[in-house]
Amino acid sequence: MEGMKQSGSPNGSPRLPPGNLGLPVLGETLDYLKSQNTEDPDSFVRERQAKYGRTFLTNLLGNNMVMVTAPELAELLLTDEKLFKTEWPKSTRMLLGERSVTTTQGARHKNLRSLVTGPLSLDNLKRYVPVIEERVLAQLGTWESGTTVAAYQELRKLTFSIISELIFGAKPGPQADRLSGFFNKWLVGLFSLFAVRIPFTGFAASMDARDAILEETAGILKERRSALASGAPVPNDILTRLMTEKDAQGAQLSDEDLQDNLLALLFAGHDTSASALASIIRYLSDDPAVVQKLREEHADVRSRKEAGEPLTWEDVRKMSYTEKVISEGLRVRPVVANNFKVATRDVSIDGYVIPAGHNVTLNYRSIMRSEALFPEPKAFKPERFDEKPAPYTFLPFGSGERQCPGSALARMEMAVFLYHFVNDWEWTLVNPAEATSYFPLPQPVEGLPIKRRKRSAAD
Ligand code: HEM
Repeated sequence: MEGMKQSGSPNGSPRLPPGNLGLPVLGETLDYLKSQNTEDPDSFVRERQAKYGRTFLTNLLGNNMVMVTAPELAELLLTDEKLFKTEWPKSTRMLLGERSVTTTQGARHKNLRSLVTGPLSLDNLKRYVPVIEERVLAQLGTWESGTTVAAYQELRKLTFSIISELIFGAKPGPQADRLSGFFNKWLVGLFSLFAVRIPFTGFAASMDARDAILEETAGILKERRSALASGAPVPNDILTRLMTEKDAQGAQLSDEDLQDNLLALLFAGHDTSASALASIIRYLSDDPAVVQKLREEHADVRSRKEAGEPLTWEDVRKMSYTEKVISEGLRVRPVVANNFKVATRDVSIDGYVIPAGHNVTLNYRSIMRSEALFPEPKAFKPERFDEKPAPYTFLPFGSGERQCPGSALARMEMAVFLYHFVNDWEWTLVNPAEATSYFPLPQPVEGLPIKRRKRSAAD
């Protein structure tokens, strides 16, 4: 069924770009969602690009939206929050809470961002390398050779245990398992068309999971507050910093602020990296030559170390091929498909005018999977990154004022995992044809079962 068509203003001067607003209320959301559960998640954008051009109008998640799909236009959209502010869909805002670094804007956002980026700075990352390596080895140490494991769930457990240790010093155990389980349910509702908490709906279940997460984090805060008040030694982690630092006006974060930010960091810091690593494992499974090159690079690092000597930041920096494998994984199967912006005033873009208050989205994925920018875009070719990509063509972590503050941490964590996993294990996919669901982020629908075998010195 053809929906409401839109192109230009009645007097012929260009205003909003052409496009299709789809059905009343639903817009084109169902078409979009359908495309995300196929092996061709780019089809929604590709078909509209062919019909309307690189900038077009659609309606997703209850909002009319201009979708921008060209790197030439990305800078304008990404660099100036005073022109295009970030505003996530209502369901995302309700699940994240309105007080997190992701959902706030203006001065409040700047302040939260500076609190969060400090602990994720390079200096601190150097300290985190051994912590992360310990967690990777502990997790891989539980694996039994010759058995099958759902790799995606293992990766989620691992990345959750790493981020919760960095944020509030959590050790693996029942609380971490509970929290990680709640995030499974929470994630489902992140981009819901109907963000209304009606009992027994999927969105309500996700909101219930949010409440359960907040109940756990309330306990964590209480414990840390009483330790801080009594002068007991507290870990030098992200939570202590968030609880003790003051903003320019001398104000500290309230418990509500802290809870929304803990939740946002726990989510942003684990499901994303687990999704990326699952994609990389998937591609490596089909590419023994890339695996071999990784092993050679890792053997080189090992050859300069004593047996069992922990990895350092410098070691990770030396793994330039691993870095390319990670970049290519993030390009070929982007974790975050697009952003959500709102024009703060009338803005001209690509010959059109986006009126103040209108939604705009930059589709990161279609840029990173464009044939013109990355020939054979669906092929996994780490050597593409022998050359630096052109500006605004490689955007796995966004760019500008909202650029991911955890990108260096995520890359380092993935490199440490690959260093041990690829060297110590052989694996095959149980179902090489396993489907992927691309919404809200790429996830193997069967949990990526792999048959694993511990490698020996003879391998
Ligand atoms: C492979 C892993 C990751 C990917 C692909 C990723 C991707 C992204 C992207 C694309 C954005 C920007 C969204 C936008 O354009 O509005 C973002 C924002 C963010 N990421 Fe990540 N991320 C990853 C890991 C992490 C980690 C480990 C953390 C650490 C805690 C983190 C924390 C954040 C936060 C707090 C924001 C919001 C920034 C803001 O609004 O100012 N991310 N991430």
